[in-house]
This record gives sequence, C-alpha cells and structure tokens, in this order.
Amino acid sequence: MLNNRNIEIAPSILSANFACLGDQIEAVERGGAGILHVDVMDGHFVPNITVGLPVVKSLSKFTRLPIDAHLMISDPGTYAAQFVEAGAQMVSVHVEADAHLHRTVMSIKAAGAQAGVVLNPSTPVVAVEEALQFVDYVLVMSVNPGFGGQKFIAQTLDKVKRLRQMILERQLHVRIEIDGGVDRSNIESVVAAGAEIIVAGSAIFDKPDAEAAVKELRNATVQWV
Ligand code: DX5
Ligand code: ZN
Repeated sequence: MLNNRNIEIAPSILSANFACLGDQIEAVERGGAGILHVDVMDGHFVPNITVGLPVVKSLSKFTRLPIDAHLMISDPGTYAAQFVEAGAQMVSVHVEADAHLHRTVMSIKAAGAQAGVVLNPSTPVVAVEEALQFVDYVLVMSVNPGFGGQKFIAQTLDKVKRLRQMILERQLHVRIEIDGGVDRSNIESVVAAGAEIIVAGSAIFDKPDAEAAVKELRNATVQWV
C-alpha cells in the first residue's frame, strides 16, 4: 500500500549560500530534486527572518522546479495568494497562525496553486481533521520551525503514521510533507511512515556537493517508488 508513491526531495534553500543561490539551485536540479522549498519567516510567528515575495518572484523565473512556499508568518491569509502571484505552485500556512484556515486555503487554490496546512511538533493531528477535505497536502514539522540544522524529533514518525491513516480512512488524496532534521540516517523511516514530500536543508546544502547529496537522498527512497 505504501509502494508506488511519488516521493519527491524538496531542498530547503534556508541552508543554501545566498550569495550564489542560482548555482546552488542548479546543483539540486541536477541531483534530481522535485520541488524547491522556500522558508518564509517574519520574525513574529517564528523568531527568525528570512525571505519573501521578491525572492520567490525571482526564483520562479529562474528554476523549472515548482516552488513550495512554507509560510511561517502571522496572519498568513493576508499574504498567501500573493505568493501564488509571485510564482509559487505550492503554498502552505500554519494551523497555529490562522483562525480562518478554510478562507486562506481557498484563496491559495483560487489563485491557482496547491494549498497545504502545517502542523508544529506539539500540534495534534486532529487539528487538521476538518481541513483534510479541502487541502492538497499536510506539512508535518519534525523540528520547531525557525531554523535549519535542528535535530529530528523522533515522535514525528508516529504522528505521520496517524495522519496517513486518517487520510486513508477518508479516501482522500492528500500528500504528506515532512520538514526538519531529515537526512540520510532517517529518510527511509520518514518515507516508510507515509511522507511523500521530503524537505531537507542542511543535509543538502551543508554538504560540499549539493547535487550528490540530493542523489544520495533520492537513492535511499527508490525502494518506495
Ligand atoms: C525550519 C524550516 C525547514 C528547514 C529545514 O523552520 O521550515 O525547512 O530549513 O532544514 P533542515 O533540513 O536543516 O532541518
Ligand atoms: Zn520549511
């Protein structure tokens, strides 16, 4: 049941060298990345500030990979559709940041992108139960959002399994994305648990050869494809 899935590696540019971002993106494209994960942080919802709309706009013209904008911002409903207009094909918003999740998800879809909802490590799976029927994917955080290079929280594996079960029971086509602390040592277990979109930042860009690092992660998942 877990075989024949479309497993994709989504490099997170948070750990990339921004002084040569184009080169770094070309490297992960050559490595076989399927998606480009862009972490948007506002210094309010999370204690860090990264990049926003202008960067997504430039990247969308540069790369052939679909851009997955992970919005770690307060009031995401105000900005979500703007990220689609800037060129993101996937936009996700945190359940914890949005009291009007349905409205925000609909605004992302109406603008023409896939919509995702995100769960922090301490937010229970049940928090997305109602949203499952109108989202394209659920992003399960396996670290507390805000920084790259953190340690994978092991309990996340069971959480992904329970979420997958919830999706299967409802016969929905909702993909599970996982983000934080994923590397060669645990990628097989996250895929086995049910994740299909695998975000990795430091495991790719902290390596001397980002292309080879993507290939290595992809090779580790071939048994599931
Ligand atoms: C954390 C971000 C992640 C992060 C992943 O808040 O959402 O995308 O960049 O980086 P690693 O893979 O190093 O944990
Ligand atoms: Zn992310």
